[in-house]
Amino acid sequence: MQKIPVIIDCDPGHDDAIALVLAFATEKLDIKAVTVTGGNQTLAKTLRNAKKVLCCLGKQPPVAAGADKPMFRDLEIAAEVHGESGLDGPNLPDPPWEELPMPAWELSRDIILQSRQPVTLIPTGPLTNIGILFTAYPEVKRNIARISLMGGSVMAGGNWSAAAEFNILVDPEAADIVFRSGVPITMSGLDVTHKALILPEELESIRALQGPVPRMVAELIDFYYKYHAAQGFPGAPMHDPCAVAAVAAPELFTMRDMRVDIETKGAHTTGMTLADIRSWSDAKPNVSVCLDIDRPAFARMLISACKNYH
Ligand code: BDR
Ligand code: CA
Repeated sequence: MQKIPVIIDCDPGHDDAIALVLAFATEKLDIKAVTVTGGNQTLAKTLRNAKKVLCCLGKQPPVAAGADKPMFRDLEIAAEVHGESGLDGPNLPDPPWEELPMPAWELSRDIILQSRQPVTLIPTGPLTNIGILFTAYPEVKRNIARISLMGGSVMAGGNWSAAAEFNILVDPEAADIVFRSGVPITMSGLDVTHKALILPEELESIRALQGPVPRMVAELIDFYYKYHAAQGFPGAPMHDPCAVAAVAAPELFTMRDMRVDIETKGAHTTGMTLADIRSWSDAKPNVSVCLDIDRPAFARMLISACKNYH
């Protein structure tokens, strides 16, 4: 089996951390690097969190820090969801190793240009690092197979504003660059991630596995689910793991190709992913939008990923 070379760009974040758990347990993926952006918390915190999670997994891929703020705006964080550390809940030791000295976009450029097989990007935070990469080194686009991102929403409304999902809202200009790049995009937005729930009984079956990784995942979900339970979710929405699963197990998803554009200047709609859902539209699709998921199979995939480290 030929593995799919991927770069994960994240802002951990509880669900980013679980996306890393899933990705490193998935034999189909060859993770070339983990790059980090500011998003759920400041860059210093998301970088520390990424390294802590990788340490817990016993993995040490190349790691590079990226942007500490969006391309043209100030950083907005999500401490309400992810806590002061960005990864509140589990008590994870600081890793004894350092990230690479080069910025995320330079590491990504080198990996993409040197790869014999086209690389897949999996961004699970604001798209700033990819926006900078495409602006500074547009030649990389030729050797990118696909971008499988978590962000946006075409019919489910927003979560950080009435119109916009957090990752797109934080850096809409970067998202605009990515969505107009011509690189094929798979979008796991709120339409599907709000269905990708881990239910309380599934959380308990993860906890029962024991070992440092299942314990970390269970403690992450314990903290993260409190916020979502208060909003009425019957389980914890696994936003970012969807972007990994859409590469490793696309058969779990129902997707539809659409034209999706980013609103960057709206009075009320900045960060909206405006999808042309007209059946008679002749707009050329740029995104495969995930609309539904085989939730039980997705939950089984996540639980078996946790077992992988057991
Ligand atoms: C996205 O926002 C962040 O809080 C999560 O990590 C996820 O990437 C969901 O809107
Ligand atoms: Ca994220």
